[in-house]
Amino acid sequence: MYLWKILHKTNKKIQNMKQLIILATTLLMIAGCTQKRTEQLNVIPAPLSTDLQTKVFVLNTDSRLVIETPTEVKERLLAYILSTPLTLASDDAAQSNRLLLRMDAKLENTTSTEGYTITTDDNGIEIEAATETGLFYGLQTVLQAVENEGGMPHGTITDRPRFAYRGMMIDVSRHFFDKEFIKKQIDAMARYKMNRLHLHLTDAAGWRLEIKKYPRLTQLGAWRDHPLWKVWWNSGRLYAEEGSKNAHGGYYTQEDARELVAYAAERHITIIPEIEMPAHSEEALTAYPEYSCTHEPYKQADFCVGNDATFEFLENVLSEVMEIFPSEYIHIGGDEAGKASWPTCPLCQKRMKEERLKNVNELQSYLIHRIERFINSKGRKIIGWDEILDGGLAPNATVMSWRGTEGGLKAVESGHKAIMSPGTYCYLDQYQDAPHTLPEAIGGYLPLKKVYGYNPVPDTLDAEKASLIYGVQGNLWAEYIPTPEHMEMMIYPRILAISEVGWSMPEVKEYSKFHKRALTAVEHLKSKGYNPFELDKEVGNRPEAEKPLTHLAKGKKITYSPRAPYFDGYSAGGDSALTDGIRGGWNNNDGAWQGFIKGGADVTIDLGKSYPINSIGADFMQICNPEIFMPAQVTISVSQDNETYEELTTINHDVVRDDVLSFKNFGWKGETNARYIRYQAKTGKFRGWLFVDEIVVE
Ligand code: ACM
Repeated sequence: MYLWKILHKTNKKIQNMKQLIILATTLLMIAGCTQKRTEQLNVIPAPLSTDLQTKVFVLNTDSRLVIETPTEVKERLLAYILSTPLTLASDDAAQSNRLLLRMDAKLENTTSTEGYTITTDDNGIEIEAATETGLFYGLQTVLQAVENEGGMPHGTITDRPRFAYRGMMIDVSRHFFDKEFIKKQIDAMARYKMNRLHLHLTDAAGWRLEIKKYPRLTQLGAWRDHPLWKVWWNSGRLYAEEGSKNAHGGYYTQEDARELVAYAAERHITIIPEIEMPAHSEEALTAYPEYSCTHEPYKQADFCVGNDATFEFLENVLSEVMEIFPSEYIHIGGDEAGKASWPTCPLCQKRMKEERLKNVNELQSYLIHRIERFINSKGRKIIGWDEILDGGLAPNATVMSWRGTEGGLKAVESGHKAIMSPGTYCYLDQYQDAPHTLPEAIGGYLPLKKVYGYNPVPDTLDAEKASLIYGVQGNLWAEYIPTPEHMEMMIYPRILAISEVGWSMPEVKEYSKFHKRALTAVEHLKSKGYNPFELDKEVGNRPEAEKPLTHLAKGKKITYSPRAPYFDGYSAGGDSALTDGIRGGWNNNDGAWQGFIKGGADVTIDLGKSYPINSIGADFMQICNPEIFMPAQVTISVSQDNETYEELTTINHDVVRDDVLSFKNFGWKGETNARYIRYQAKTGKFRGWLFVDEIVVE
């Protein structure tokens, strides 16, 4: 009995243990299903906050679409959803296996006007937002998750943008891109929650919008005698009559432009038209020379600000523009005015006297103020490039900061809004990878990682000023971008970095994670017929720039001849730059290349004591668009006492103008002993700049 009892007890224990194990396994299985997801959701831009599990809700052919919004919103959302891969049947009574979109104005405080929440469980996916825009963006998140993750992970997403303005500019003047191309880019912008498309519609290279009152703007100003901007720019810059056999270019009719505005609006994107003034206006002033100072075609880039007829013209043009584009903001350019004819133009001089304007900057400011009053009188506002600060900022203007960030910061300091698009981070016309692997670009080196690293709000800005940073914009200037395929290669994937800079909070940003998501996005874009840069084949920066170099002259004192100083704007850190061990990358403006403009460089390095030396050399860069050339002659000499020098070599080089970025070492190899090294480099027939990063002594 006792034995039986013991056996029985043991048996029970075993049974209990079995049950325990089963229970534990079940619990583990349940826990497995609801395990917290640690990976970032594979969507761009990264949402504000996610609390997700590993379990995924998968939409299938039985899933139903439920839209709880006012009828007209529902119709618009349905029409949009039908244009996406989410072609679900609609059934407002569906309680499970559903994708629900619910609009509730009371949610505004928690989700902002563009924000949304997504809640996912076994019954399906629910998107909630205070506005139609919020629902639209929630839908973009679902679309990307479904495509990239196979479904939506259970849990919640709460999301809203960091900045209200998330823009892309396309320069359709330097090369014309047609309506269908623009629509295709609008589709992608919507996917990545970008909401402003700035069209640079006018510039010397072509006027791209039909203006009924001034037909010559497009009959002549929209066409030129060569399809490629670079050839045209370097060979006479002639315009051509529409329909003539030499006419290359194009323009949007007002009907085209209205179609684009509507297409963009359906995707929650505002098109901001830019009409350049007072400069970049050669095409307008060749079509209508009477609005330039001398009334001669082909002579001037700037409007005559002294002539009241100029204002009548500009206001008539802007009136038609505002009829077509409902945007709250109209961009009026304002950049890079040469102002060359104003000092000698009697009407401009008369205007300056009458208005007590001290200089031509104030004359430009007069024009911007007067145009602002006109635009404000129609209930709209102006945006201008940061030069509109010169001579006094118009009272209600928003500044688009491109020459660095100073303009934008100055604007917010004085209570104005600023859109940040500094060249160093946002000019997507620069090379995004090793230049020898890419078609010709304007220059520079702006890889995805650098764009992604941009923070539009410096830490030094207080909260009130920071709130005036309206947003960020990527700019696609098209001088060197002649085809749609090339333009897409320049846009993608870097605009996705702009999207995340504009939408996501710094806390959720991490480049290595973004890079993974961008690789997925590139594949998606390719599958949809876009031509993105092949991010997985990125070569990266010039290898020499990747790590500091140790050599005999590193950290040693260097003296510059007063006749050949470096240029302050390209000092690369000053007197130590050529012996700091830091090598330059693909970009002459990356802070490692030192630039000389006055005919050459002439420096002496003091090693501190005599050393045996086997080689002395330095790399130079050549990129002809910004007039940076190889030296025509390099002389290297050494000395023990800094008085008597022995010349080791003189190298003569035939400088040839070309289209490629190149690097070349000018050096000497041999055996010598010396304490002082003199390195002299001279420019050749093209003069221009010399750029050198380090004098390496071994
Ligand atoms: C500009 O790049 N000129 C605005």
